[in-house]
Amino acid sequence: MQSPSQPSKPASSTLEVPAVSLVPRHVAVIMDGNGRWATARHLPRMAGHERGVAALRKIVQACGEQGVEALTVFAFSSENWRRPEEEVSFLMGLFLMALEREVKALKEAQVQLRVVGDLSAFSQKLRKAIDRAVSQTADNKGLVLSVAVNYGGRWDLLSAVQQLMTDHPELAQSPASITEDKLRPYLCLSDLPEPDLFIRTGGEQRVSNFMLWQLAYTELYFTDTLWPDFDEQALALAFDSYRTRERRFGRTSAQLTSKPVAC
Ligand code: FPP
Repeated sequence: MQSPSQPSKPASSTLEVPAVSLVPRHVAVIMDGNGRWATARHLPRMAGHERGVAALRKIVQACGEQGVEALTVFAFSSENWRRPEEEVSFLMGLFLMALEREVKALKEAQVQLRVVGDLSAFSQKLRKAIDRAVSQTADNKGLVLSVAVNYGGRWDLLSAVQQLMTDHPELAQSPASITEDKLRPYLCLSDLPEPDLFIRTGGEQRVSNFMLWQLAYTELYFTDTLWPDFDEQALALAFDSYRTRERRFGRTSAQLTSKPVAC
C-alpha cells in the first residue's frame, strides 16, 4: 500500500506489491538490431540507425494510443563509446537532429520528453538541444518518453549513492540506516512506476546494464525482430505476452488466485 502522506510516490516492487494493469504502465526498450538490419540490405550501419528513429516514432505513438504512461528507451549506453568513432559521432548527430526535428510532433502528441544519463560527456551544442527539447515538452500531460543516453545502470546506482552521501554525510556513521526509501529518490526516473515490461529486439537475451535497479520485477520479453522492423503489430505481440504473465512479486500462485491484484 502507498503511504497516504505520499499519494503520488510510485510503488517499490520490493517493499510492496504494485498494482498490476492489463496494459503495462511503463515499458523499457533496448532497441537492438539497427546495424544488422542495414547490413542485411547492403547498407551502411548508419542507415539502420536512421530507420531506428523512424521505428521509435511509431512506437511512441502506439504506446500513447494504448494508454502506456511511460516509455524508456536505451539510445546510447555508457559502453557504446567503444564503437568506431565514426559510428559514435553519427549517433550523436542523429540524436541532435532528432531532438530538433521531433520536438514539434512530441508537443502535438502531448509527449513529455526526458533524457537520462551522464550528459557531461556531450558537446555543449547537444546539451543545449537536450535542454531545449526537454523544457519545451515539460508541461505535456501524455506519455513520458525517457531517452537514455550515455546511461548505464551501474552509473545510475553509483551516482545515486554519491549524491545521497553528499546530501546526508551523517549516514556514513550509521550505514544500516541507508534504506531503499532513502536511496530511491536519487535514482533516474524514480518518480515513474518501475517498468512493467522490458522489450529487447534483435535476438540477444540480456539486460546490458539497463535500469538494473528498476527492472527488479519487470517482465522480460525478447524478440528476434530487428529494431527497424519493430512496429505496432510487434508491440501488440509483446503486450499479448505480457498479459499472460503471472506477476507474483515473490508470492505463490495460490495467493494470487485467492486474492487477485489485477485491476
Ligand atoms: C543498437 O543497434 C542501437 C543503438 C546502439 C542505437 C539506438 C539508436 C536509435 C534507435 C536511433 C537513435 C535514437 C534516438 C532517440 C535519436 P546496434 O547498432 O547494436 O545493431 P546491431 O546489434 O545489429 O549491430
